[in-house]
Amino acid sequence: MVSTRLVFFACFLINSLAADYVINNKRFPSDFMFGVATSAYQIEGGWNEDGRTPSNWDHMTHTRPEFVKDRSNGDIACDSYHKFKEDVAIMKKMGVKHYRFSLSWNRILPTGFPDKINEPGIAYYKNLIKELKTNNIVPLVTIHHWDLPQSLQNLGGFLNASIVDWVADYARVCYKAFGDDVKYWLTFNEAKQICMGGFGFGYYPPAIHSEGILEYVCAHNLLKAHAKAWHIYDKEFRAKQNGKVSVVLDSSAYIPASNKPEDKVATDTVLHFELGWFANPIYNGDYPEIMKTRVAERSKREGRPKSRLPEFTEEEKALIKGTHDYFAMNTYTSYLVESIPDPGIQDPPTRWSDIGVNNFQPDTWENTTMEQDWFKIAPWGMRTLLKWIKYHYSNPEIIVTENGVCDYGDMEDDKRISYIRDNLSYLRDAMIEDGVRVFGYTVWSIIDNFEWQHGYTQKYGLYQVDFDDPKRTRRPKKSADFYKKVCTTRCITDKCVV
Ligand code: NOJ
Repeated sequence: MVSTRLVFFACFLINSLAADYVINNKRFPSDFMFGVATSAYQIEGGWNEDGRTPSNWDHMTHTRPEFVKDRSNGDIACDSYHKFKEDVAIMKKMGVKHYRFSLSWNRILPTGFPDKINEPGIAYYKNLIKELKTNNIVPLVTIHHWDLPQSLQNLGGFLNASIVDWVADYARVCYKAFGDDVKYWLTFNEAKQICMGGFGFGYYPPAIHSEGILEYVCAHNLLKAHAKAWHIYDKEFRAKQNGKVSVVLDSSAYIPASNKPEDKVATDTVLHFELGWFANPIYNGDYPEIMKTRVAERSKREGRPKSRLPEFTEEEKALIKGTHDYFAMNTYTSYLVESIPDPGIQDPPTRWSDIGVNNFQPDTWENTTMEQDWFKIAPWGMRTLLKWIKYHYSNPEIIVTENGVCDYGDMEDDKRISYIRDNLSYLRDAMIEDGVRVFGYTVWSIIDNFEWQHGYTQKYGLYQVDFDDPKRTRRPKKSADFYKKVCTTRCITDKCVV
């Protein structure tokens, strides 16, 4: 096993950080999908309109405004609830092939349950999808992007095993209402962040801090919920609607800090914990071996009668395995990884000490903003990560469902241009040199929006939104022109060959 790992990482280390890297000038295939993304709570506003009830984010921002850096919220956000046609017009002008957006559960099901379907909520998304269709833009629909109905949060949310049925019932309503016009579904956005943010570090609602314990419980329930929603589509809708269902997983790229065998093993370990935690049950039928072994061993040393990592029954494993029609991945940055001595037992435990490696970003790598201390610009990891996925999950068809960079709102955003160009270049290398089957790439985001705990202080948009203006005027940044050229020419250099 170790020797395979060594071979896997051998060439990346040398190639991927090369200073004389040349941007790939091979045109992307004609069916390659270039798109943009957003999510409901981050852009829609209309928080209490037409029967919408509060989500966990409404509840948190209204009851504990200090939870968000600038004490802001998504009450109005980009006002896309009223301005969606303008958003679609912008996308049309840019020449994107797809738009990834999410549905607000509490706008569609005000109680959280399908006892009452909110027709104006359904109508909003139907109109959006119709507008996209009219403009030849393919919808990629995320069923749940972090905004859980507060009614369900009050019942324990992802810690309640009934979440499996709640998600399944909600997903069925979505497939039924929109499935004739939606061919790409995503059950959850960034499964890991839901659990780590909500129940690990607690930086997302319900803000429970329980690293290495409740975040594993959340993930266990979430995986079963994803599987059930996938099977419902498979059995009840696929034959008629002919779409595909997946889940968005997120991971940074991890690269060994040296050629030492132990750093390569450490790199593999962190990837299994970060990505394999969710991908391995879905692709290979259970949590990664290294994860099961490490958490069980550490739990024992902590004096626990069983592992903090829950176990799937054989029946559950069989239900979860194979619940993918494509691989959807969000990625933003890279880290170097080095092996460290056993970190010892922590009380309370932490997931990072379960992983037991050191990952870091050298000072020489370019920063994004001060607040995003996890995020330096390191596009070379894109190729490494894609190849790792190919190798571990049977060469799936992959779409990058988010990639983008934040700043404080520069209109001359050259940094964003080079970030997108460089990430696309390494992605193209992965397609050509490594045979990774990537079929799409999605910029986060088309417009500046509510960046969760950072409020409106961090800007990711290709378009600026003026949040002081009641009209929420949108203006193209320099990167909007650049991405338009990419979408329309499928080329990231001045001139492409072929
Ligand atoms: C991850 C999330 O999916 C999205 O909601 C967020 O705004 C971006 N990445 C940037 O942090």
